[in-house]
Amino acid sequence: MKGIILSGGMGTRLYPLTTSVSKQLLPIYDKPMIYYPLSTLMQLGIKKILVITNSFYLKNYEDLLQDGSQWGIDIKYETQDNPNGIAEAFIIGKDFIGKDPVTLILGDNIFYGLDFNLVDFKINDKAYIYLFKVADPSRYGVANLKNNEIINIIEKPKNPKSDFVVTGLYMYPNNIIDYVKKIKPSKRNELEITDLNNIYIKRKNMNAIKM
Ligand code: TTP
Repeated sequence: MKGIILSGGMGTRLYPLTTSVSKQLLPIYDKPMIYYPLSTLMQLGIKKILVITNSFYLKNYEDLLQDGSQWGIDIKYETQDNPNGIAEAFIIGKDFIGKDPVTLILGDNIFYGLDFNLVDFKINDKAYIYLFKVADPSRYGVANLKNNEIINIIEKPKNPKSDFVVTGLYMYPNNIIDYVKKIKPSKRNELEITDLNNIYIKRKNMNAIKM
């Protein structure tokens, strides 16, 4: 299992904090934000990790995280200069992923106190997403659930069908590399992770787990 931390984006909602500092390097208590998703991947036992960031901030990330050997892991870097969508991580990371399954985590997502188990993808061709109940689902990708089964995901709906939204932690079998070639940019001109997740749901290859 490979791991990708997607740490690009503009962080516009945090201007002016993020005009000259990458959002995911801002401190959360006593650590840079990216330490939290990095720890989540390490908790999952993932040792080969790709950090994707804007080339403007690349050196900051390299200075901070180095090659990972200080923590017994292997960190590589790639760049995404425009926020073309979360799904672009699998295009940028194609060579890094190689023939392995991959876990993607967003650089600004903090999962605390949860007991994860890494799924054995060798005997399982399903993807995994994690749902979380929120008060304001319209801001997120919302899970349409029927008898606890996921029917589809709707991105930022005006009338959400549930309070459960998709968090920024996703696990995929290696066919994600093929599926990402099938999707087209959305109206907001992004390659949507929701479109990829809906492919797995349609093929009945998605496990959506409530946190
Ligand atoms: P967003 O919340 O869409 O963007 P943002 O965090 O840059 O903030 P703002 O809306 O205030 O401008 O992204 C969620 C996370 O995913 C965040 O960590 C940035 C990352 N991301 C990328 O790295 N590349 C992308 O193409 C997108 C869409 C998001």
